[in-house]
Order: sequence, then structure tokens, then C-alpha cells
Amino acid sequence: VIVLPDATFTPEHKLPALPTSLVGRHDELTEIARLLAQPACRLLTLVGPGGIGKTRLALEVTRLHHDDFPDGACFVPLQPLNSREFIVSAMAASLQLPFSPNGDWLEQLLEYLREKSLLLVADNFEHLLDAVHLLSDILIHAPLVKILTTSRERLNLIEEWVYEVGGLSFPTSESGTDIETYGAVQLFVQNARRVHNSFVLTHARKTAVSRICRLVGGMPLGIELSSAWVRVLPCEVIADEIQRSLDILETPARNILPRHRNMRAAFEPTWDRLSEEEQCVFKKLSVFRGGFTREAAEFVTGASLRILSTLVDKSLLRISENGRYHIHELLRQYGEEQLDASPQLREYILDLHCDYYMAFLGQRELEIVFLGQQPEAIEKITLELDNVRIAWRRAVEQGCIEEIAQAAEGLWGFY
Ligand SMILES: Nc1ncnc2c1ncn2[C@@H]1O[C@H](COP(=O)(O)OP(=O)(O)O)[C@@H](O)[C@H]1O
Ligand SMILES: [Mg+2]
Repeated sequence: VIVLPDATFTPEHKLPALPTSLVGRHDELTEIARLLAQPACRLLTLVGPGGIGKTRLALEVTRLHHDDFPDGACFVPLQPLNSREFIVSAMAASLQLPFSPNGDWLEQLLEYLREKSLLLVADNFEHLLDAVHLLSDILIHAPLVKILTTSRERLNLIEEWVYEVGGLSFPTSESGTDIETYGAVQLFVQNARRVHNSFVLTHARKTAVSRICRLVGGMPLGIELSSAWVRVLPCEVIADEIQRSLDILETPARNILPRHRNMRAAFEPTWDRLSEEEQCVFKKLSVFRGGFTREAAEFVTGASLRILSTLVDKSLLRISENGRYHIHELLRQYGEEQLDASPQLREYILDLHCDYYMAFLGQRELEIVFLGQQPEAIEKITLELDNVRIAWRRAVEQGCIEEIAQAAEGLWGFY
């Protein structure tokens, strides 16, 4: 028997807190609104390379169009998921849809959406392309639902409409005067002030900042990384380093796709300027999914609070209001590449990650069984769900019976 949730239930307008204000994107938001308003457009994909600003745009669309749909708009972050089995549960979690244990989850999700009129925003679909039929199923079963997805590649569904996201606007010549009117320059200055509060765009700096924005093609993530250096480097030096890196990337030997070069060109000088210890910590941090706490980072990677703060200053990590740290998915992948180059270290770090989260589950027993703090325990586990999934899978693959038994102690109290 499928127990359906209360029909009057509407998803809460709950979006991740954003650390910075939105820059530019007026034209993009207008065009996306126009597309979404067309009855025939039921699945719209924002396509563009990593770091170009798709997620930020999708968050803004969710916020802006929430009240245009009787049942609101719901943002589903899919990026930490490494398996398509979890899409349905991620959607249910964002919709706050309680599943009944008996009955197929997909059926319950489709049944729930059937009479809903809402905007479902599925962020970061690119690594789930073999699960696109799920979106078709939703469109068929839920005639009043519209879906907005973001992806590095188009999904190639017949129902799909595509909107290509480009970088923020940037000055095309070095002699431009009103360069503050360009989105890329505004983002550079906004982020530079975060690390260096007295930063001003002097006449001398304008040429260099225009150059940087041009070199990274107005790509927001590249701008965030390069502007983080203003406290210690003059803008001309930052521009020169990106230029040098771009020149190297353009050589056939590097074999990097042109559309990935701007971002790489900003990442590599940042990477090269990290201390050995910072590099080591950052590549180890790439094993986390969906963020991590300071304690977890310390246990798994040996990172001190000082190192974490330095990585935040360099825009490689972001700290959210609840104190959790996050890595942008593209930067995480760069870190992962570095870690993959040392397979032994990688296995060791994955073991530590597994130990940490299996013990973490086990520790919940105290709260659940003895302290009667089920809601608190559930909240803690929910925050760590992506890490827990990876740890659990590794424990199973490696046959860590004791760790699984220990983790299960923490979970049996739920039943
Ligand atoms: N218009 C914008 N204004 C301010 N910050 C932005 C803007 N677009 C992107 N960013 C920031 O740039 C970074 C990369 O953007 P993101 O949306 O995550 O890119 P993508 O999803 O395409 O990989 C993020 O830190 C994001 O907050
Ligand atoms: Mg994204």
C-alpha cells in the first residue's frame, strides 16, 4: 500500500544560503523567464562548462519564479550524488516527501507530482545522463510540472529546450574606460574586497583586471580564484600568470579542450602557488561529497583550522553559515585528479573517510536510544548523507563487517 503524503503539503521555499550577491545576468534571467513562460517548454536545460555560473543562475530562477507556480519551485542539488539510484531520494528529500517503506519509491514520487503544478530544478545533471528517462517519466505523469536542469552537456531528450550559459560580460579591449559596468569586473571587485577590504579599482589596475576577465572568458569560478590573490599579488602579475598558463594549455601536448582552457588557466597558477601542505590537504579533501565539517577534515586529511582558512581565503573552499565547508564540484574534480596520481594515498584516505563516517553513524546510537534525540540525530545524518553513502559503499566493497555492525548500532534505533 502506498501511503501518500498530505495532499495540501507544499514544498518549503528552501534554498541554500548564498555567500555573495548575484552579479549581472539580467538578460539571461529575462530570456529564461520567457522560455519558461511558454506552455510547450516543459524541460529547459542550462548548458555550459563547469564554473560558468549555471548553478547560481538556477538558484536565482528558483527564487524568482517560486511564486509563479501554485506549488512553488523546488531546488534539488544532484552534484554530490555519484549514482543515479539516489536521484529519486534526492528529489523526495528536497520536496520533503516522506516515503512509505512499502512500495516503489519512483512510483511514490510520480504519484506525488501527478497533480502538482511546480518548477522542479535539478542541478548538475551531467553525471547522471543515463538517468534522463526519469525526467521524461515525470513529464508524462505530471502534466503541470516544469523541469529546469543544469548540465555541462545537453540531455538529448526530445522534450528538451536548451539555453546556453556563457560567462559574465567582460571588456573586450584593454583601453575600455567604464569597465565597472561589466559583470565579470564587478564580480572580480566584489570577491577581491572579500579577501582585501580596501581593494579599489584604481586606474592602474583597470587594464590588468580587464585582461584577467578576458583571459578567463568571464567565467565566474575563474574570476573567484584569480581575484583571491589580490592581497598578495599585483593584478598585472595575476594576469601574466594566467596568460602563461593559457599559453601552455594551448600547446597540443596538453590536449585540453578549448572550452576547458579558461578555467584551467585560472586553476593552475592557483594550484602552483599553494604550499605543499595546502596542495596535499586539498587533494585529500576531494574525497568528501556534499561538504564536510572541520572535525571530519581533520580526521581524514589532517587539515588544521589554519590550512582550511587559507584555502577559504584562496577561494578553493567555501564555508557556509552552519560552519560546513564546501568545494566547487569542478575544483573537487581537479583535486581528485591530483589524488588519483597517488593511488596508495588515495586508498588510505578513502579508508579513513570510511572509518570516520561509519563511526559517525555508530555514535548516533547514544542520541537516538539513550538521549531521546531522534530529530537531532536525523538532522546530523541528513547533512552527511552523501559522505555516509560513499563510506557505506566502501565498507561493503571492502568487507568491513565490524564497521558495518558498529554503524548499524546507530541506525537500529530508528525502527
Ligand atoms: N552571476 C554571479 N554573481 C555572483 N557570483 C556568481 C555568479 N555566477 C556564478 N557565481 C559564482 O561563481 C562560482 C561558479 O558558479 P556555479 O554556478 O557554481 O557554476 P557552474 O554551476 O556552472 O559550475 C560559484 O562560486 C558562484 O557562486
Ligand atoms: Mg553547478
